[in-house]
Amino acid sequence: MLTGRNLIRASDLNEQEVGLVLKNADSFMEVLKRKVKKVPTLRGKTIANIFFEPSTRTRNSFELAAKRLSADLVNFSASSSALKKGESIMDTIETIISLKLNLLVVRHGHSGVMDFISGKVGIPLINAGDGKNQHPTQALLDTYTIKQKFGSLQGLKVALVGDFLNSRVARSNVEMFSRMGMEVIVVAPSMLLPEDYSVLGTDILSDIDQVIDQVDVLYMLRMQFERQNRRFYPSIREYNRFLGLDRKRLNNMKKDSVVMHPGPVNRGIEISEEVMDSRDSKDRILISNQVTHGVAVRMSLLYLILSQQEEP
Ligand code: CP
Repeated sequence: MLTGRNLIRASDLNEQEVGLVLKNADSFMEVLKRKVKKVPTLRGKTIANIFFEPSTRTRNSFELAAKRLSADLVNFSASSSALKKGESIMDTIETIISLKLNLLVVRHGHSGVMDFISGKVGIPLINAGDGKNQHPTQALLDTYTIKQKFGSLQGLKVALVGDFLNSRVARSNVEMFSRMGMEVIVVAPSMLLPEDYSVLGTDILSDIDQVIDQVDVLYMLRMQFERQNRRFYPSIREYNRFLGLDRKRLNNMKKDSVVMHPGPVNRGIEISEEVMDSRDSKDRILISNQVTHGVAVRMSLLYLILSQQEEP
């Protein structure tokens, strides 16, 4: 169990703990296939979804996960809250906690803010994405998706392609994929890499064609325009030339290899319209599977953190 634990970064979970989350996610995938997709596991527990940044997948997935486990859910959205009247973030969070909650799920635009929040709240905290820093539940659901496809993770070759500099998904995925025995390669030009990229501990390439025919998983990173305070790449044409996935490159991939993306996809930039819409490659493009698996993985995590926890 992970009773009472926080999940702030991918490295908060060791290999056995990641394995435990994935194993329980299998059981919850079974629940999600039933006619009545609900279990009473977290009846009486209350979870708050606190999102200071926009989200479609993560927010809805946590909401559904909580509801499928019979927990009560409070949804907080910054745009319709008293933050608009000048209330501070910490006062807002303390107000929400006064509602007698058991767990917080928080997304925020500032990297590193989760350590500050977790030190103040006294109940488990799950990081649903903080700035450019970490998105550990995305790493869990991506790892689960890869395991579902290949059976085993050990020795698989994964390339993370694109805007590494601004991507919290990339940071979490490098940590978790490596920890689970996968070989990770980063494909990004220097302007889309952090200054000290040697800390990544991975091979770094600048052209997708150097790996396209060798990898088991091609993980396309979202170009994070919303976090770019200057122009990081000369042009979309240039991006497509060295980093984008089009039909020709898809055809060059290994048999049985797959394409993933955390979403939302910038069509025509990371992945061409043609590849996104092609019916014959839908078994290789796992983007919808990632979203589906997100609910089961988050159910597993909520179950492991909360089911045996005493009331605060
Ligand atoms: N992958 C992801 O975090 O998507 P959302 O921003 O829609 O939650």
